Amino acid sequence: MGDRPYTLLSCGISIDGYLDSASVKRLPLSNAADLDRVDAVRASCDAILVGAATVRNDNPRLLVRAAHRQRARVARRLPPAPAKVTVTASGVLSPTADFFTAGAVDKLVYAESDVVDDLRDRLGGCATVVDAGPHPSMDRVCADLHERGVRRLMVEGGGTILTQFLTADIADELQLVVAPFFVGDSQARRFVSDGRFPFHPQRRAELAETKQIGDVVLLRYALSERFGAQQAIA
Ligand SMILES: NC(=O)c1ccc[n+]([C@@H]2O[C@H](COP(=O)([O-])OP(=O)(O)OC[C@H]3O[C@@H](n4cnc5c(N)ncnc54)[C@H](OP(=O)(O)O)[C@@H]3O)[C@@H](O)[C@H]2O)c1
Repeated sequence: MGDRPYTLLSCGISIDGYLDSASVKRLPLSNAADLDRVDAVRASCDAILVGAATVRNDNPRLLVRAAHRQRARVARRLPPAPAKVTVTASGVLSPTADFFTAGAVDKLVYAESDVVDDLRDRLGGCATVVDAGPHPSMDRVCADLHERGVRRLMVEGGGTILTQFLTADIADELQLVVAPFFVGDSQARRFVSDGRFPFHPQRRAELAETKQIGDVVLLRYALSERFGAQQAIA
């Protein structure tokens, strides 16, 4: 395995395994206490990655919210929040998205070769556009992030991105939060799509922790041997 960051996947799902509703409006799955937990996880990472559809649909800021966590990072000579990373084949990203406008942190866009020039023109100086080749893979994105100094990567969705990290077997940890309701609409985005996953009935993932957080539950899965090593450091 080449050098890649320790990679932690994080997302919330409904009881029936959906990441969102089918409507345009973002579906809140988490609660306040869990959002605070996610904030602490973000603060512990060097970069946060989401797919371009999540940037377009949800318009997330992807920053560390708590002032004390920002201060603690700055005291460690880090930026107040991790770098933001996204991936696109279409290049359809607006420089006015909060991903680009919020926070004085590095923003990286891994783009398919065809759209790189146009995207650099459109985004101007608000992000570094990296040519990720004709068929970007999460493997290569991770290797490049590692070269740029990212040692701990948080992947916050959506489903297309999570599926690729899982099927490529380059995720070390999964933090899955289950919200106490159903979506019940197959038009909505599922947690993952079809694929060959490294964990199946003959090879079960290790459930490392369960925690009730108000009305949601956190399921923490160790997906690689690096999980234990990371725990020892933490
Ligand atoms: N519940 C949660 O925790 C959570 C977290 C995040 C997101 N979500 C939800 O998930 C939904 C979005 O999920 P999604 O699966 O539709 O989209 P996504 O994973 O956020 O993004 C998919 C997009 O990323 C780009 N992309 C992915 N793989 C690529 C590759 N190998 N090479 C180049 N570009 C690549 C493509 O962008 P282009 O289209 O630009 O080519 C693709 O359309 C939203 O509704 C959001 O609300 C939920």
